[in-house]
Amino acid sequence: MSEDIENYKEKYKTLEDLPGIGPATINKLKEIGFKTVESLGTATLNELVSAGIGKEVAEKVIETARKTVAITFVRGDELVELRKNIRKLTTGCSSLDNLLGGGIETQSLTEFYGEFGSGKSQLCHQLCVTVQLGETQGGLNGSVLYIDTESTFRPKRVQQIAPRFGIKPKDVLKGIVYAEAYTSNHQTVLLENADEVIRDNNIKLIIVDSVMSHFRSEYIGREMLANRQQQLNKHLHKLTRLGRAFNTSLVITNQVMATPDAFFSKAVAPVGGHILGHMSHSRIFIRKGRNNMRIAKLTASPSLPEGEAPMRITERGIESDEDY
Ligand code: GTP
Ligand code: MG
Repeated sequence: MSEDIENYKEKYKTLEDLPGIGPATINKLKEIGFKTVESLGTATLNELVSAGIGKEVAEKVIETARKTVAITFVRGDELVELRKNIRKLTTGCSSLDNLLGGGIETQSLTEFYGEFGSGKSQLCHQLCVTVQLGETQGGLNGSVLYIDTESTFRPKRVQQIAPRFGIKPKDVLKGIVYAEAYTSNHQTVLLENADEVIRDNNIKLIIVDSVMSHFRSEYIGREMLANRQQQLNKHLHKLTRLGRAFNTSLVITNQVMATPDAFFSKAVAPVGGHILGHMSHSRIFIRKGRNNMRIAKLTASPSLPEGEAPMRITERGIESDEDY
């Protein structure tokens, strides 16, 4: 099954290789953000038709492009085969890796949430390093696409963390493709046009830090909520589709709000409502402990038990006792 996918990837390398479409259609596809065959494989018929592509042509190209991506009906035993393509990215912190069953999976959405200063952005900085490690070291041998909505990305901090993982400070920044998103719309458009960047830079991790901040500040009040959730849904769908198409890990960070019904333990909840809750496959809550200690708690996972992991933020990055 996965060998078939590799064959088709070889056969249909670019949109121009797809049978039955001409230059005009190719241009339209590119305009609406499908510049690679892999991302086209995750397109919906509606997206193409509303861009003015004939229904029959649209159906046909999507069907062909899908052969390069693992999305179709599969038998259970084939599913096991397909899941073999899924990789795990080390966080560089042993206790957190254990909590996550080995690391951050590719093809699904992993959300880290917690209050200000809990270390979400610090972890994102560290992942910019670990994704570049070879597979034997727990990396994905690739680069990162970093979408920053709060202007908190600091290249110097990545360079400070890199040597611990055997990567030279002067080399590590070459593996980072950075984009600052100024509005929620900009954030959405950046992802919609990211497929070529992902392919050409061998991106294996996409980070959105933080996913909700623009949505939260721009859509205010109940009247705007439905619209916000619709835009958010679209954005998260695009993210997961890119993850499937290119076998990348997907990491988003999120803020928290106090929950009025908190009585015993859950005093805070991630923002973003049900849409975000349904789309995030794994959710990890980070809370502050004493000094620079942090406790990560797995609060949602498709396959792993809930659990906690102690860790620390130091000048070396995020680490646990086992890392010494
Ligand atoms: P918000 O984005 O505001 O919601 O917070 P966040 O969860 O992204 O927090 P962030 O990752 O920015 O964590 C900030 C924490 O990391 C602060 O407590 C800093 O003191 C700590 N920190 C950052 N750099 C260093 C460092 O070089 N050494 C140590 N020991 N701590 C650091
Ligand atoms: Mg942050």
